[in-house]
Amino acid sequence: MMFVFSTAYTLALLFLFTEAEPRSKSCKEVKAAYSSKGFNVNDVPNKGVQGAHLKVCPQGYSCCTLEMEEKLSQQSHSDLKAPVSQLSKDLQSTFKQRHSHFDQFFRELLDNAERSLNDMFVRTYGQMYVQNAELFKHFFQELKRYYLSGSAVVNLDSMLSEFWVDLLERMFRLVNVQYEFSDAYMECLSQHTDQLKPFGDVPRKLGLQLTRAFVAARTFTRGLAIMPEVVNKVSAVSASPSCVRAAMKMMYCPYCSGQVALKPCQNYCLNVMRGCLANQAELDAEWNNFLDAMLSLAERLEGPFNFESVMDPIDVKISEAIMNMQENSMQVSQKVFQGCGQPKLSKGTRAGRSVKETGFTGRFRPYSPDARPTTAAGTSLDRLTTDVKKKLKNAKKFWSTLPETVCAGERIAPGDDCWNGTAKSRYESVVMGIGLANQMSNPDVEVDITKPDLVIHSQITLLKETTYRLKAAHSGHDISMDPGDDDEEASGGEGSGSGCDSPSCDQDIYFSTPPTPINPRLVVLPRDNAGGAGGAFVSRGSVALALFGLAVALLFPHWR
Ligand SMILES: *[C@@H]1O[C@H](CO)[C@@H](O)[C@H](O)[C@H]1NC(C)=O
Repeated sequence: MMFVFSTAYTLALLFLFTEAEPRSKSCKEVKAAYSSKGFNVNDVPNKGVQGAHLKVCPQGYSCCTLEMEEKLSQQSHSDLKAPVSQLSKDLQSTFKQRHSHFDQFFRELLDNAERSLNDMFVRTYGQMYVQNAELFKHFFQELKRYYLSGSAVVNLDSMLSEFWVDLLERMFRLVNVQYEFSDAYMECLSQHTDQLKPFGDVPRKLGLQLTRAFVAARTFTRGLAIMPEVVNKVSAVSASPSCVRAAMKMMYCPYCSGQVALKPCQNYCLNVMRGCLANQAELDAEWNNFLDAMLSLAERLEGPFNFESVMDPIDVKISEAIMNMQENSMQVSQKVFQGCGQPKLSKGTRAGRSVKETGFTGRFRPYSPDARPTTAAGTSLDRLTTDVKKKLKNAKKFWSTLPETVCAGERIAPGDDCWNGTAKSRYESVVMGIGLANQMSNPDVEVDITKPDLVIHSQITLLKETTYRLKAAHSGHDISMDPGDDDEEASGGEGSGSGCDSPSCDQDIYFSTPPTPINPRLVVLPRDNAGGAGGAFVSRGSVALALFGLAVALLFPHWR
C-alpha cells in the first residue's frame, strides 16, 4: 500500500517535472538570445518563473523578469528606430550627394565661363580688355553672389543693366578718345542706354536667359539642400511611450514565453508601425507635392535656357554685344552728341590717337568649343538631371510606405505561423490606414490624433514654402523665402505677382520669347535729364560723324 502510494507520488512528481521541463529548457535559448543582445546572462532565470509582474508581456509563466522587460523595452526602442534611421540616412546621403554634384557643377560652370571669357577677351581685345577687366570680374562676382544668395542679396535685373551701362560708358570713351567727357556727360549717356540700344538685342536676350537659368539652377539646388534637412528632422522625431510599448510587445514578448525565434505577423507589424509613424506619414502629401515641383523644375534644367547652355557661350554673347556696339558706334555717338551735347576735344589731341596709344591691338577670333575646360563633376547637366529625376521619383511616398518597408524580410514571419501579440497564430485585427486620423482605433498603438507633432508640422510648412518657390522658379520668377524681404521685381510684372496659384503660372512663358520683356529689365529713368536735349535724338550729319569714322578706322583696324 505504502509502495503503491509512493510510486504514484513519484510518478506524479515525475509527471509534474516533465511538464515543467520544456519551459525551463526554453529559458536556455532565452539566455543565449538575451546575452547575444549584450545583456547580462545572469538576469535570465534558469527556469521560467510564475507570476512575474510584467508590464507589457503576458503575466504568468515567463522567462522574463521585470528588470529584463525594462531592458528589452529599451532594446525594442532602438530596434524600432534602426530601420527608419537607416532608410532615412540612405535618403539623406542620396540627396546630399546630388546637391553637391549640382552645386559643384554650377559653380564650375560659372568659374569656367569666367576663365574662358577672360582668355578669349585677352586674346581678342588685348590691353583694351585688361584695362577694363574689373568690369567683367565684378559681373561674375555678382552672378556668383546671386547664385548663392538669390534676389534678397542681388537684384539680377539691375545688376545686368548696370553692367551694360558701364560697358557702354567704357566703350563710348574708347571710340571717342579724342573727346573729353565729364561725369555729368556720362550720366546723360547712361540714362539713354535704354533708347540707344547700342548692344542690339543681346542685353535683353541674355538677361532673360540668365534670369531663367539662374533662378532655376539656384532654386533647384536649394530644394536638393533642404531634402536631407527635412529627412533628418522628421526621422529624428522620437517614438511615443505607447509606441515603445507596442514595439516591445511585438519584438520581445515572444522571448519571455521562450519562443526567441518567433517573428511578428506582417499585419501586426504594419499596425504597430503605422501607429508609431503616424506623424511622419502626415508629411507625405507635402513631400510628394514638393517632389513633383522638383521634377518639373528639373525640366527647366534640361530646357533651352538651361544653365550650361546659357553660361557656356557667355563670352561669345558678350562679345557679340561688343560687336554690335562697334557696328552701331557711329550712330550711337552721333545720337549721344545730339542728345547730351557736343563734347569738348581733349587738350593737345587731334582727332584720332594712334593704335599704340589706345592699346588696342587685338583681333576678334571665333570661339572654338573644343577648347572648353570640362568640369570636375565630369558630367553634363543632362546626365546629372536624368540621374536626379530618377532619385526624386524613388523618394516619392517615402513616409507613407515606411511601415511596409520596415515590416518586410527578416523582421516579420510570412504566413500565419507568426507572433500575433498573444500567441503563435494568425493576426485577426484589421490593418489601419495611413496617417494620424486613421489611427483612432489602432488596436496596438494608442495614438493621440488630436496632437500633430510640432517638428513635423514645421517641416510641412517648410516644404510648402519651398514648393511655392519651386513653382515660381518654373515660371522664371525668384521668390524670396521671407515675404518681408520679398523683392517686388522678383515676383514678376504680370498678373498679381503673388505667385503660382494665379493662372499666370500655368502659362508657359519659359520658352516663348515675347516681343517685349516680361519685366522691364532696364532701369526706368526720367526722360528729361539729358540737359534739356533728351528728346533731340534725331539723326543728323555732323562733324562728329567724320571724326568718329576716323576714330573707328584707327581703333578697330582688324575688327571683322
Ligand atoms: C492571436 O491568436 C489567439 C489564438 O489563436 C487569438 O485568440 C487572438 O485573437 C489572436 N490575436 C489577434 C490580435 O489576432
